[in-house]
Amino acid sequence: MICKTQHLRGLVRSLRFGPFQTKSWHTSQASSSLQQVSESPDCSEDGYADVDWDNLGFGLVPIDYMYIMKCTEDDDKFEQGKVSRYRNIELSPASGVLNYGQGLLEGIKAYRKEDGRILLFRPDQNALRMKVGAERMCMPCPSVDQFVDAVKQTVLANRRWVPPSGKGSLYIRPLLIGSGAILGLAPSPEYTFFVYASPVANYFKEGLAPLNLYVEEEFFRSSRGGTGSVKTISNYAPVMKALGRAKSRGFSDVLYLDSVNKKYLEEASACNIFIVKGNVISTPPTNGTILAGVTRRSIVEIARDLGYQVEERSIAVDELSDADEVFCTGTAVGVAPVGSVTYQDRRIEFRTGGGCVCSGLYSNLVGIQRGLIEDKKGWTIEIDT
Ligand SMILES: Cc1ncc(COP(=O)(O)O)c(C=O)c1O
Repeated sequence: MICKTQHLRGLVRSLRFGPFQTKSWHTSQASSSLQQVSESPDCSEDGYADVDWDNLGFGLVPIDYMYIMKCTEDDDKFEQGKVSRYRNIELSPASGVLNYGQGLLEGIKAYRKEDGRILLFRPDQNALRMKVGAERMCMPCPSVDQFVDAVKQTVLANRRWVPPSGKGSLYIRPLLIGSGAILGLAPSPEYTFFVYASPVANYFKEGLAPLNLYVEEEFFRSSRGGTGSVKTISNYAPVMKALGRAKSRGFSDVLYLDSVNKKYLEEASACNIFIVKGNVISTPPTNGTILAGVTRRSIVEIARDLGYQVEERSIAVDELSDADEVFCTGTAVGVAPVGSVTYQDRRIEFRTGGGCVCSGLYSNLVGIQRGLIEDKKGWTIEIDT
């Protein structure tokens, strides 16, 4: 028995790291394609990939399969998506994404329930957000059904990479790029939609420990009329300088201010921000410069259900001095408590720990995501394995 497992695990390794394979499954309907994808090389006896699940971080682990779907300028419609081996892709040096940054990304998680089944959390919301982003970036976009179907197929094909219950999740990355070659500044003549994934655990090196944020006053994440409200790839390289600087000073992340008044909280590099004062939970409004996080929206709803007063309003940085708690939300980060915010060399500390508002909200959200709490909102989708 052990030999068989070892042999199969060896096979998995050679499939992962060996020469690229061309085998793929053309699909247009989830039902037919799911059967075809089930030919994927599930191998270890326990049905899991050979991963040290207790030591997962937030790094890229090459999985078995990815999803690809193309759209040409002829009809503006995405057709004939396929699941194929996870591999490097070929792009023209003149492609729209490489030259002009025409690209959008998304982030979704799949969770393993205690009974082994797999749940996706609100992928339709990511599909809708990609549609809004595509409109802003002059790109055609897969329909919501195509997007959700592609995500399901990717998870199903890579199901052995979904961590055991409580050990993390499969982070799924849908990506829409202008893949066609174009020299002058204009929309790309061809687009490609990919979905890949990686098993992950905590996003921050702090794990579940409280974050220490640094309020950035020199660099801004977005500006009015810009693209801060959409998840374009071009929003992320510009924050690396501020983020790197903050990390080198020992902070976990940067908290950005609005670029006009340099006074109101916007968000962190890859998550939204909330402050708590008594029974009132406040978060900046989604008025064009911050990303409308799926986790943010879910937490707003959960908090209201739990009886908190939730306000979406401008929050001056000075209000931090008076806040009981601060926390961040995002698919990658979950609901992360903030222990301190440093603004103009002044460190403001906040309540954290078991009895906090943040930890109650976190338990509720995670409970729904992992199938531990009944999902009365229809937020989760079970993958039919
Ligand atoms: C800039 C930014 N804000 C907020 C979020 C949180 O959004 P979500 O909750 O949909 O993951 C993200 C993550 O995608 C992000 O990149």
